[in-house]
Amino acid sequence: MNQLTVSHINEAVEYIRSQTADRPEVGLIMGSGLGVLGDYMTDVTVIPYHEIPHFPVSTVEGHAGELLIGALANRTVILMRGRFHMYEGYGPELTAFPVRVMKALGVQSIVVTNAAGGIDTGFGTGDLMLITDHINLTGRNPLIGPNDDELGPRFPDMSEAYSKRLRQIALDQAAAQGFELRSGVYVGLQGPSYETPAEIRMLRILGADAVGMSTVAEVIAARHSGMEVLGISCISNMAAGILDQPLSHVEVMETTERVKTKFLNLVLAVIPQI
Ligand code: HPA
Repeated sequence: MNQLTVSHINEAVEYIRSQTADRPEVGLIMGSGLGVLGDYMTDVTVIPYHEIPHFPVSTVEGHAGELLIGALANRTVILMRGRFHMYEGYGPELTAFPVRVMKALGVQSIVVTNAAGGIDTGFGTGDLMLITDHINLTGRNPLIGPNDDELGPRFPDMSEAYSKRLRQIALDQAAAQGFELRSGVYVGLQGPSYETPAEIRMLRILGADAVGMSTVAEVIAARHSGMEVLGISCISNMAAGILDQPLSHVEVMETTERVKTKFLNLVLAVIPQI
């Protein structure tokens, strides 16, 4: 097991603080193709992941691999352009490490976004889905191993993993912008193969509305450390077997590109109220 301790977190925090005097309050973790939000930041400090002690580097196309700290929508934010996935070979504790670092930097709330396959047949590609809850089917958990009580409790509560308060803000902003923000349960799998149609039928029976390969480990670590979480999925494709066509990362990237303005406007409107 690849245990990361408070001293690893502190070394990363120290390095980041040596690069900027900004003290971020809101953390943003951007999914495939959604890192464009970083382009709207001002007075920004960009720190490549490979410079930060103990940070892994992301290896996926569409994930840039840099930390941005600066101003966005009148708040001081820290934005991850690119995240770490278990399918890249990282353990869940490494996937969740940047969340720990954000918390140690003073961040109290995070917005996590992802691209996901739509399981609810009422969804369409390009819809945005507010994550109301998740199902962790990765079979892994970032909190396995000795618990550090300084970071959070041994058995953290997950009954409101995605903050009701933040969800309401997102729903109100979407209504004000005149589009329907879908709501649903996100199921997280390890990947990297997409699901089979039989797996999608199973996941639907289990209560999932969208499926993806990220987010759950980060959210578990965030809740462990007492942060408030807002989660938004971009339905980048319909899940396997729903349409008579194969799934591809190209489709995922094309859809996120197509809806990025809608997505961006929503997140920008939500940030000042977090
Ligand atoms: N399945 C899993 N992960 C995904 C999908 C999908 O259909 N689309 C985007 N990420």
